[in-house]
Amino acid sequence: MHILTDISLKPYNTFGINTFARYFTSFSNVNELREILSQTKISDIPPLILGGGSNMLLTKNPEIVLKNEIKGIEKIKEDEQSVFIRIGAGEVWHDFVMHCIDNNWAGVENLSLIPGNAGAAPMQNIGAYGVEIKDVFHSLQAFHLHDKAIVTLYRDDCTFGYRESVFKNKYKDQFVIVSVTLRLYKHPHFNTSYGAIGKELDSMGVKELSIRAVSQAVINIRTSKLPDPKKIGNAGSFFKNPEVAAEKYDQLKKDFPGIIAYPARDQFKLAAGWMIEQCGWKGYRKGDAGVHDRQSLVLVNYGKASGNDIYLLSEEIQKSVWEKFSVRLEREVNII
Ligand code: FAD
Ligand code: EPU
Repeated sequence: MHILTDISLKPYNTFGINTFARYFTSFSNVNELREILSQTKISDIPPLILGGGSNMLLTKNPEIVLKNEIKGIEKIKEDEQSVFIRIGAGEVWHDFVMHCIDNNWAGVENLSLIPGNAGAAPMQNIGAYGVEIKDVFHSLQAFHLHDKAIVTLYRDDCTFGYRESVFKNKYKDQFVIVSVTLRLYKHPHFNTSYGAIGKELDSMGVKELSIRAVSQAVINIRTSKLPDPKKIGNAGSFFKNPEVAAEKYDQLKKDFPGIIAYPARDQFKLAAGWMIEQCGWKGYRKGDAGVHDRQSLVLVNYGKASGNDIYLLSEEIQKSVWEKFSVRLEREVNII
């Protein structure tokens, strides 16, 4: 283990923000993590655990950054219907999804092409195209930074919600997720309820549904509208889609007949991208901070924007959406 000092984080976050870690190292197993934490110079300061850096906005220079590189994909048990797969937190999520498709394990194909690592997936209960990781989540192993012990947390322990989990709230900064275990289907099991998937499958000319076809449809849709972080810095949706009560939605619908919303339990989920676009932000650019020109929910860094430039832009957007719609936008991206 080698602890580096004053390391640029630009290559380690998809926004491409150039802040510096005072201390930077990586670990590929729990013993290495324990050893790093026992080093006197870094033992008192809470570390920033880094996965693929695709859901964070760096607004300052973090003191200690620990990159999780725990690898491994292991079948731990199976029954007639399901297979239980344990994934090391440092595995690249999309590579894991492809591995599942190659093995004909269903359940994560709708989550194709989500950037980042498996260990961060439960943090915000990643979701896309009608599926969330909670739908196939069995358990995870996590290292408690204070007690230095490994615990197993099951689905009910994680309080998953829309882009939420216990790790963003009650247990914030307390655990390092070490591995994630999913229960996947061995037999065909499809979720094509999200309208765009059906349309894409049709235009692909798919006659017989397969998890590979669903995955490809999702990949096609995603690449058509989301910016590739390799080409332009971003962290996906910057805000959550706000959920409002039926009465509030009825009022908004009267005032803004074009508003886009989806029923979500007893509430309505509003398309924040549409609201941001209505406020005139689509394609906006100030310096190197901007709003994507095909997806207003995605804030972008054209090159040299600072975390603060992006943050200030997000505040302006929140303010204008509030003034026009009286709806509060909550950030999805983790502000560091
Ligand atoms: P990081 O950005 O490295 O970390 C995110 C947070 O989790 C940080 O607070 C970090 O400290 C913490 N963390 C990371 N790993 C661990 C660990 N092992 N233990 C404890 N804490 C940890 N998300 C969706 O849900 N749906 C989408 O459709 C989607 N599309 C995206 C599209 C693009 C183009 C981009 C750039 C992002 C998108 N995202 C999406 C967001 C992002 O990909 C996910 O949130 C992903 O799970 C983040 O993984 P990561 O490894 O990059 O996490
Ligand atoms: N829209 C606009 N203008 C815009 C952007 C969107 O009118 O500038 C409209 C679209 O036309 C569509 C609706 O808003 O009718 C919803 O847009 P889209 O289908 O692109 O999805 P989204 O709500 O913007 C959410 C997730 C994405 C996820 C997709 C697919 C959140 C915050 N975002 O985006 O997740 O991939 O649905 O399920 O829930 C992420 O979390 O980082 C992310 C990319």
